[in-house]
Amino acid sequence: MTRPLRWARFAPGPGVRGLKILIVSDFHYALPQFDWLLEAAPNYDLVIYAGDLLDTNAILDPGAQIVVVQKYLRRLSLLTQLIVCSGNHDLDAAGPDGERRAKWIADLDRYGIPTDGESLTVGDLLITICPWWDGPEAQKAIATQLAAAEPHRAGRQWMWVYHAPPPETPISWSGQRYFGDAALVGWMAQHSPDYVVSGHVHEAPFVREGSWVDRIGGAWVFNAGKQIGAVPTTIVIDTDAKQAVWFSLDGVESVRLDAPLERPVTQLSELPQWMAKAADPA
Ligand SMILES: [Fe+2]
Repeated sequence: MTRPLRWARFAPGPGVRGLKILIVSDFHYALPQFDWLLEAAPNYDLVIYAGDLLDTNAILDPGAQIVVVQKYLRRLSLLTQLIVCSGNHDLDAAGPDGERRAKWIADLDRYGIPTDGESLTVGDLLITICPWWDGPEAQKAIATQLAAAEPHRAGRQWMWVYHAPPPETPISWSGQRYFGDAALVGWMAQHSPDYVVSGHVHEAPFVREGSWVDRIGGAWVFNAGKQIGAVPTTIVIDTDAKQAVWFSLDGVESVRLDAPLERPVTQLSELPQWMAKAADPA
């Protein structure tokens, strides 16, 4: 099912030229990381959660995890514009076709949170939120969703939120093999998005030959990765400063979005000015 395109759901106020976007994924029910996100969220125009909120390997029943995470998401949605897509750990229901889906994530709609199957405009971005696909029907629905959203791109940059990264890129490299989605790379070739925000491969930013950022065609592709502890790995994008910054226990790295990607990626020893302001509004 293709869900509606939302128009001007959120627009920055007069005089605000760019968006500050916080990207996270793969908390896997690490509640201190959700607490961290509640603290950080008000500093950003947009918070994107790119899948795997739950931990299906945990002892705690997924139904109980859903109740808790829904509460966090509802609180987050009152603090900023929140966007959520499903990951492979989030599937809680099977459709009539036998394919598993994240029904509870689609149901976040009731809190006004844009989720799987929707597209929306945020400032000068068109954002399309794709579900995790478990079979051919869900995959077909994504193809339909992308084709339906494309005409609305008109003059905007197009960002896809999609849990699995593309294959054969450093952002899907686990250190031993690639865990990417071949269907995604086909759709990228067809539609040429400007950004793809993924997660899924927890190790990618931390391993040799891996990374949190890459370019595929004209698209910037991201995977913040996962780390233990109360502070999650994050990527912050400022569309005005045209910069993306990755934060982790391994350090802070940055790319300019208006220049070619260079490796090794630049390591930062201090925050860019626009980030320092976001961290300290006074
Ligand atoms: Fe994950």
